[in-house]
Amino acid sequence: MDKLLIQGGHRLSGEIAISGAKNAALPILCAGLLTSDAVALSNVPGLQDVATMLKLLRQMGLRIAQDGENVTLNGDAIDKLEAPYEMVKTMRASILVLGPLLARFGEARVSLPGGCAIGSRPVDQHIKGLQAMGAEIAIEAGYIHAKAKRLKGARILTDMITVTGTENLLMAAVLAEGETVLENAAREPEVTDLANLLVKMGAKIDGIGTDRLVIQGVDSLHGASHDVIPDRIETATFLCAVAAVGGDVTLRHARTDTFDAAIDKLREAGAILTTGDDWIRIQMSSRPKAVSFRTTEYPGFPTDMQAQFMAMNCVAEGSSRVIETIFENRFMHVQEMNRLGAAITIEGHTAIIDGVDKLVGAPVMATDLRASASLVIAGLAAEGETLVDRIYHLDRGYDRMEMKLSAVGAHIQRVK
Ligand code: EPU
Repeated sequence: MDKLLIQGGHRLSGEIAISGAKNAALPILCAGLLTSDAVALSNVPGLQDVATMLKLLRQMGLRIAQDGENVTLNGDAIDKLEAPYEMVKTMRASILVLGPLLARFGEARVSLPGGCAIGSRPVDQHIKGLQAMGAEIAIEAGYIHAKAKRLKGARILTDMITVTGTENLLMAAVLAEGETVLENAAREPEVTDLANLLVKMGAKIDGIGTDRLVIQGVDSLHGASHDVIPDRIETATFLCAVAAVGGDVTLRHARTDTFDAAIDKLREAGAILTTGDDWIRIQMSSRPKAVSFRTTEYPGFPTDMQAQFMAMNCVAEGSSRVIETIFENRFMHVQEMNRLGAAITIEGHTAIIDGVDKLVGAPVMATDLRASASLVIAGLAAEGETLVDRIYHLDRGYDRMEMKLSAVGAHIQRVK
């Protein structure tokens, strides 16, 4: 199993190119199921989760041509309306095939995702929304079996804001009969990116970027081309690394209007940030100041950045409070950081971090994707050697992270 070996304490300087967004690419690939025409995508990141999604879609009969970051999908020969347990258990985002399959083919069988390291993560809102659109849904032998001759538009109010739930219902609604209103919709930039592609494919969607999406269903969608938006979480992860260890780094191909909450906190921590159309530069010449925050839905502070900012807070001047409100078990990195000498205590959904003068390298274990990234940041900031185990989590969502960090002066290498 691959591990990352890090020699901490080296300032970072230079340039990094940001890849396409994982959480935009995954639903966008599923949108290829909605038409028999070709959907040509660019800026698709080279990630394990993308490979898993392509494998699942291929199993369904989607024809796929891939050339690096360019992926063309052709849904003219889909013959298997199923996402098996073996795929869904490795990647929960497989649930995103449910809406498009049901909308276009009138049937889908998708394994229910089980529990997850960061929380229980049920999909009841996806099911409730599709039922409101007239789908008959049975849970049989661990599978969601959904049927509908043709989905019918409905007004759907989800109990909470759900990102993939909004995406699934949006992909169902674009081919439903009549009008669907999605109230309490997620406003994440990844939802917006999917909606923009669907409009290019002929969908009629109003309210894109707001919490109320109004969709007029159409009979069919056609092909389109689309450039996946840059990954805001990857961008903010690198910014956080520089804030923790110091340096001067410019991130290229970024979308700087998609992570304001992280930018505000980095400025509060003492970083100097300058931005252009598609780049952001961070300069950090002092020890960071501790910053407190509460995770919440977009445009608030993202849960997917909580662990990385906690790593910065570990070496910051002062104390901070981090409140996680989205997932009930997303503090698994805390015990690992404490093994590096951090001083973090947990009270319910709040972590209290007392900044320490230094962390000292040690072997640590990654438990999920963003926890892995936070341990890399802690390792870069620590004195001596840190070995991060189980980095298959990292490879699911970061495109060649160790190569990008090495290019700006980090001492980090992949070892077997
Ligand atoms: N929830 C329910 N029922 C549902 C759906 C959600 O109770 O039917 C709850 C969840 O358990 C959670 C909250 O609602 O407590 C929000 O979950 P959401 O559905 O928004 O999460 P998701 O769609 O499963 C996506 C990202 C996650 C990211 C969250 C929150 C993708 C593929 N995944 O997950 O990304 O943390 O939104 O922003 O888009 C990651 O990239 O590391 C990652 C975990």
